[in-house]
Amino acid sequence: IKGGALAGRHVLVTAGPTHEPIDPVRYIANRSSGKQGYAIAGALAALGARVTLVSGPVSLATPAGVHRIDVESAREMAAAVDAALPADVAVMVAAVADWRADTAAGQKIKKDGSGAPPTLALAENPDILAGLAQNARRPRLLIGFAAETEKVVDHAVAKRARKDADWIVANDVSGDVMGGDSNSIHIVTRDGVESWETMPKADVAHRLAARIADEFA
Ligand code: C5P
Repeated sequence: IKGGALAGRHVLVTAGPTHEPIDPVRYIANRSSGKQGYAIAGALAALGARVTLVSGPVSLATPAGVHRIDVESAREMAAAVDAALPADVAVMVAAVADWRADTAAGQKIKKDGSGAPPTLALAENPDILAGLAQNARRPRLLIGFAAETEKVVDHAVAKRARKDADWIVANDVSGDVMGGDSNSIHIVTRDGVESWETMPKADVAHRLAARIADEFA
């Protein structure tokens, strides 16, 4: 048994983007780097937690002591999260694609010579965080992230209630955050809002891990 404030706790972290296939060579994605989620997974492991990191496609090294499960699409991520339960804590940092191609083509889609581009029908992806909140095996502490460019706290307060998360970590992405190294965040809980000064993503990770450990002290 490892020592540390989170020894004996299982923490589930999602991180990175998802890739939603259009055909065997094309996909829908977003600019998430995975840096913040990976840093959080590493910080939680450093406090002694058993960490399962369900990761979309990123080019980052697995943090020390973290069990990593690689997935591509939102539906694969949802299945991997479900398979990793039960967990004491879930920190959902992944930038999950809201939509996927309704049907992924089995073969590469070809230009047909008519000059008319194909249309892409979309289907909505499952909301993994909201689903986990309703799960019979809901983690005791369920944490979501919210990237916002305006009315950061207002949107996060609404999102926490709508998804029934315990906390929303609201991320002000009006500056150069996605792929950058610093984060400006507010923690929205059931009781109120804690605003932190802008700090490196590594510091956000350590402070958040310590804040999580406080809940289990
Ligand atoms: O609604 P929005 O995408 O802004 O919510 C962000 C939060 O919800 C993040 O914690 C993200 O990981 C989670 N989420 C999810 N599944 C989705 C969409 C978002 O788990 N399909």
